[in-house]
Amino acid sequence: MSRENPKLRAELDGIPTYKPGRPPAAAEGVPAFKLSSNENPYPPLPGVLEAAVAAATKINRYPDLACAELTAELAERFGVPAAHVATGTGSVGVAQQLVQATAGPGDEVVYAWRSFEAYPIITQISGARAVQIPLDAEERHDLDAMAEAITDRTRLVFVCNPNNPTGTAVRRAELERFLDRVPGDVLVVLDEAYREFNTDPDVPDGVQVYRDRPNVAVLRTFSKAYGLAGLRIGFAFAHEPVAEALRKTAVPFGVSQLAQDAAVASLRAEPALLERVMGLVAERSRVVSELTAQGWTVPETQANFVWLRLGERTMDFAAVCERAGATVRPFAGEGVRITVGESEANDLLLRTAAQYRKDL
Ligand SMILES: Cc1ncc(COP(=O)(O)O)c(C=O)c1O
Repeated sequence: MSRENPKLRAELDGIPTYKPGRPPAAAEGVPAFKLSSNENPYPPLPGVLEAAVAAATKINRYPDLACAELTAELAERFGVPAAHVATGTGSVGVAQQLVQATAGPGDEVVYAWRSFEAYPIITQISGARAVQIPLDAEERHDLDAMAEAITDRTRLVFVCNPNNPTGTAVRRAELERFLDRVPGDVLVVLDEAYREFNTDPDVPDGVQVYRDRPNVAVLRTFSKAYGLAGLRIGFAFAHEPVAEALRKTAVPFGVSQLAQDAAVASLRAEPALLERVMGLVAERSRVVSELTAQGWTVPETQANFVWLRLGERTMDFAAVCERAGATVRPFAGEGVRITVGESEANDLLLRTAAQYRKDL
């Protein structure tokens, strides 16, 4: 019997592992809140659970490979051709398909850094080289530097708007200027996972931006505002050649019928969605203004989280929060990303942050 290990692709060596937000360590008598994964604190929207339960009675059957009902619903809701819609296993699944469709060994994928931690992983899996462009001093995308980093090997550029983990957003004029500089054969992916939380009219809606730009795709998700993170469903809008490539690179039957039906029901519950989003946005304003009043530097955020650049204090602050009953997402040596949760969780976080400053 051979004792040799199978040969694995060299590209897999050193791939950073995705660190999921930690669940709260529930100590006795202490409420525990998870503010580490940018999830929605609320239960599913009205009608969603019923749709999922009905779909669950048919789990002996494969799901609809084409996600036809959801595709039609998305096309109608966003006013795009159905042929431009592609669905996948979370927007991270769709992002991976986009990289697979465009980049391989010898190619380059450009993105800001720090940004969504899946970008380096999916880039490295493809065999392409990651070109990471540091955020500017205000924790924002440096779009000029990103445009300058594009070479004839660049195949894809991610623009994370608003950016995870800093929450900062790219504005319309700077995005248009950037897109005008990007060669037409380079795909620009506007990752708008947190779009629903945006309140600034100057932040462009990718759905409008992509329409007359064949090299732009928009990524959206049901995981954040819609609260379906556990069902793994996201989508992209892209012109036909790219949307077609997404159909080719999809894992067959990857999106479950539960996810499809729950997503359709979520889209039909828009008034309730808007109400919840408005509630979270109001909580975000409260968290930002109270943290600022306590003396913290908080970059403007258009997402459902805030960023504190704490440098060497990052892990200490995260540990203090965890002991108090709230897990946050630390990036060692850099900063802490804190999800805006239910008001009780935000209260706890604000109390903990205030105490932390007093103890400094
Ligand atoms: C910027 C960004 N894009 C995409 C995703 C992926 O979300 P999902 O795969 O759940 O749709 C996330 C999740 O944290 C994110 O922060």
